[in-house]
Amino acid sequence: IFNNVALLPPDALFNIKQRMSQDSRKMKVDLGIGAYRDDSGKPWVLPSVREAEKLIQEDPDYNHEYLNITGLTSLTDPAAMVLLGQDSLALKEGRTVSVQSLSGTGALHMAASFYSTTCKDKLVYLSDPTWANHKSIFEGKGLKTATYPYWNAASKSLDLEGYLNAIKTAPQGSIFVLHACAHNPTGLDPNEEQWATILKAIVEKEHMVLFDSAYQGFASGNLNKDAFAVRLGLELLADVTPVIICQSFAKNVGMYGERAGCFHLVLPHQDEFVKMADVKAAIQSQLALITRSELSTPPAYGAKIVAQVLNKPELTKQWHADMVTMSSRIIKMRHLLRDALVSLKTPGNWDHIVDQTGMFSYTGLSAEMVQRLEKEHAVYMASSGRASIAGLNSGNVEHVAKAINEVVNY
Ligand code: LMR
Repeated sequence: IFNNVALLPPDALFNIKQRMSQDSRKMKVDLGIGAYRDDSGKPWVLPSVREAEKLIQEDPDYNHEYLNITGLTSLTDPAAMVLLGQDSLALKEGRTVSVQSLSGTGALHMAASFYSTTCKDKLVYLSDPTWANHKSIFEGKGLKTATYPYWNAASKSLDLEGYLNAIKTAPQGSIFVLHACAHNPTGLDPNEEQWATILKAIVEKEHMVLFDSAYQGFASGNLNKDAFAVRLGLELLADVTPVIICQSFAKNVGMYGERAGCFHLVLPHQDEFVKMADVKAAIQSQLALITRSELSTPPAYGAKIVAQVLNKPELTKQWHADMVTMSSRIIKMRHLLRDALVSLKTPGNWDHIVDQTGMFSYTGLSAEMVQRLEKEHAVYMASSGRASIAGLNSGNVEHVAKAINEVVNY
């Protein structure tokens, strides 16, 4: 019965790690998967996380019991506050439903399941390009996806005109998946004025928005600044359509493998005859069913750590400093790489490397160049030319610049 099962290619990003582990060259550089490394190329456990872990293990009631199906409220409540802000009207008016998820991917999966049972005929619009998993997640739940133009390869800038045109021509009430900040894979975000134009166009067509928030605090080092688009979207859509926000703590708390995250749904203001509390209870029950059938209950350990970080003021303060440490090291690496390419007189303009934000740079290198980088120089990155800048450090940036220079001139 399973003899004709199709063999799928390995996951493109995780396969980079695999190939690299088999490479015996001494100087090899991993610019593949987006995971923060310190300046010696090692994974970094945030000081705020170390402290939180200590507190958890010292707790006399420490245990590994199941969480509730909808997760830890000591995580989901402050997590909503981190995204929506202290002054959030949606929070004050009680228009939000928040449940714990299996990090960002689990939250997206929950959104896809929820859409597929509540509005399965809607088209889901993804940016072109986007994180490869987006398409699989939505299509895996039977939803149809389409793309909106995003990256102008010639100018290495935002294709705002194409973007707005897609919003205008999409069927009224479609679903738009937006990257809250630090767009993956391009590292290119709309500026504040462009966000306002995009979100107003979305309001006009009464589209629904899903924000994928995987890098809050990682772009600028400032949580409020990185939540600009989410908060403006909620303000503009408050009388129009529900907004879903998928929140990952993989990158900004460094909880990669612990799968800590949240799913938030923000309802618009309701007509007088609709009881907000009833609608919220119904939605929460559907979300609980999704979790119960897929995970039974969400994972506890990472959630407890993040809850400590978000609830203990001295840990929260340390976390804010940790995000500055990570984001500023990445910005420094962007500058070192750009400057090295310029001083090597590498053909082309490399300013986009410093203009882009977050963990990634869409370098503009072709698939052939990327292949040569790996084969000749042991520099690994995604075939799209996306480089995880977090993999650069003071010991390898020169090597990477020389390697890029060689493949561009080849
Ligand atoms: C990435 O894009 O490299 C990260 O989000 C890791 C992943 O799961 O793909």
